[in-house]
Amino acid sequence: MEVLVVDPGARGHALARKISESSLVDRIFMAPGNTGTEEIAENTDISHVDLESQIDFVRKQKKIGMIVVAADDPLAMGVVDAFEEEFKDRDIKIWGPNQSASKIERSKAFSKQLMKSQGVDTADFTIAHTMQEAIRYADTQSFPLFIKMDQLFGGKGVSKAEDLFEVEDILCKYIGLGRFNRDNPVVIEQESPGVEISLQAFCDGEDYLMVPFAMKDHKTIYDGDKGPMTGGMGVIGPVPGLSTEDINRLGEKFVAPVLRELSRQGRPFRGMLYPGLRGSQCLEYNARPGDPEAQVWLSLMSSDLVEVMLASHECNLVDIKDSIKWRKAGACCLVLASRGYPEDPQKGAIIEGLASSLPADTHLLHAGTKKDEKNTIVDGGRVLNIVAVDDSVEEAINKAYQTSGLILFDGKQQRGDIGQCVTDSEFNKGIEQIKSSI
Ligand code: GLY
Repeated sequence: MEVLVVDPGARGHALARKISESSLVDRIFMAPGNTGTEEIAENTDISHVDLESQIDFVRKQKKIGMIVVAADDPLAMGVVDAFEEEFKDRDIKIWGPNQSASKIERSKAFSKQLMKSQGVDTADFTIAHTMQEAIRYADTQSFPLFIKMDQLFGGKGVSKAEDLFEVEDILCKYIGLGRFNRDNPVVIEQESPGVEISLQAFCDGEDYLMVPFAMKDHKTIYDGDKGPMTGGMGVIGPVPGLSTEDINRLGEKFVAPVLRELSRQGRPFRGMLYPGLRGSQCLEYNARPGDPEAQVWLSLMSSDLVEVMLASHECNLVDIKDSIKWRKAGACCLVLASRGYPEDPQKGAIIEGLASSLPADTHLLHAGTKKDEKNTIVDGGRVLNIVAVDDSVEEAINKAYQTSGLILFDGKQQRGDIGQCVTDSEFNKGIEQIKSSI
């Protein structure tokens, strides 16, 4: 079978890498692909958000039997619906939720209402369409409050307000951006107490299969969770302290009820559902594999990913559930970013060390890189990911940092504390709190 992967960054590279190991697959195309994927797949010059060109491409490539859509923008634009409509007469499996099911990520208001209606534990909130409504709610609440746009905004649609003045300032900024008006409400919510973890579940519309461990993303640019938000500077997994039984219980609490309700509403969710938790509450749902979470769980999955994706598309996860195998090991994904990231990433630095021999069970994934005549150079904010697997999470973290010493470029940024939480007593208390709530 031939496969098209629609995802531009390191997560796309990680997916292509795992798909390339499948005995069911003999050719992979990328939309668009990057310097790393050209070694295992065929890159195209088709953007991940150019639906028309993607359809055109699949029309010509008659052997494509599966399309994997893992990025949020094309899902929100309805790429799955467009493929389904266009290729009704061809047997193509499309992995990813359609537009109505992916609303759970795109619309924060929809998602919070869904959680409330299904009794999913989440922070108290309101949906405000006007400044007056927003201020009226905020005035009765304790701070901080979080203000979320009701649309995707490149991961930058959430702001924290410490007082009423900040609420007003943030909302004025959203109005200026055309992101807050009668048609575009905001969600204003209380802070959830506790530590943040990511869960991921393959879903087939009715049933689901949990990735059997939690992961911890590190979202800000600087150590100690300081500085602006990024697309994630590193992930570790499994988060120690949560057993497979705990993860299954978390699945019953945070995946089962929303999956059931989405199906009842006629928007069955097929693809990967990603509940982001903070303490015992659900912060948000994403409608795709996490980035960089996927880089970690893919490195720990021993089974054939394509078989699971096919089962998730064909609504028979139940038949394969018990046969999926995972490595008993720890993994760390360390993100290397460019100078100026996330605000003003600088391109052009030459990357050295890419040909180094890496420690066993370690690999590099490309995101913002490109080749000129002689060198591989920095071509974006998120440059490379280092993924290391070892017997324990701690060993995997050490190995990822050791590998980073081999990769050099001017302006290289990385966090120095990825995974330090595993030995932090406050973090471990937070995990205990999550355990005690299930
Ligand atoms: N790890 C954050 C995200 O994928 O949205």
